[in-house]
Amino acid sequence: MARKSFPLSKVYGLLEPGPVVLVTTAGGEHANIMTLSWHTMLEFVPPLVGCVISNRNYSFSRLLATRECVINIPTVEIAGQVVGCGNTSGANLDKFKHFSLTPRPAMQVGAPLIEECFAHLECRLTDTRLVDSYCFFVLEVVKAWRNPAVKNPRTIHHLGGGNFMVAGEKIRLKSKMK
Ligand SMILES: Cc1cc2nc3c(=O)[nH]c(=O)nc-3n(C[C@H](O)[C@H](O)[C@H](O)COP(=O)(O)O)c2cc1C
Repeated sequence: MARKSFPLSKVYGLLEPGPVVLVTTAGGEHANIMTLSWHTMLEFVPPLVGCVISNRNYSFSRLLATRECVINIPTVEIAGQVVGCGNTSGANLDKFKHFSLTPRPAMQVGAPLIEECFAHLECRLTDTRLVDSYCFFVLEVVKAWRNPAVKNPRTIHHLGGGNFMVAGEKIRLKSKMK
């Protein structure tokens, strides 16, 4: 089979681990929202999630200052707002107002849940050892929420270059993985 060399800059699109998420942080004049696709599970229980948040983003300083955030999981229905939150900065914009998203109080952290998302992970920052070298934050999920009315969430997955995949068909296979 003929194979073409694949650009190293696009490798992440092949291994994309999960859905694009919206990370909310508190503090400052208003709560903020950023779009994030570079995340990975690190532990089952307590759930640990690793996230790369660039130090060019306003959310970087907000997360370091408050040590809390919420990972909100959106579906394709709000894809336009998701991309919008990824193309604007909370340093000069209230994204909740601008993108007509609704903040709801979380139970364990100061950052808000986003009403329009189907699941929410309230997180505390537990490990910053890789922040200086990789902007990699280790978060512990201390409370999780899911809307049971959304049976088959059509999450969006970033493939790079403005391309997204929408999750669809669900299949069941025997697997040793939990
Ligand atoms: C689909 C998508 C995925 C993104 N993933 C990440 C990511 O994983 N890490 C990151 O630092 N920025 C990511 N971004 C860029 C940030 O969302 C963007 O820089 C945003 O403006 C940051 O907002 P803030 O300055 O209000 O924190 C992504 C943007 C999009 C559109």
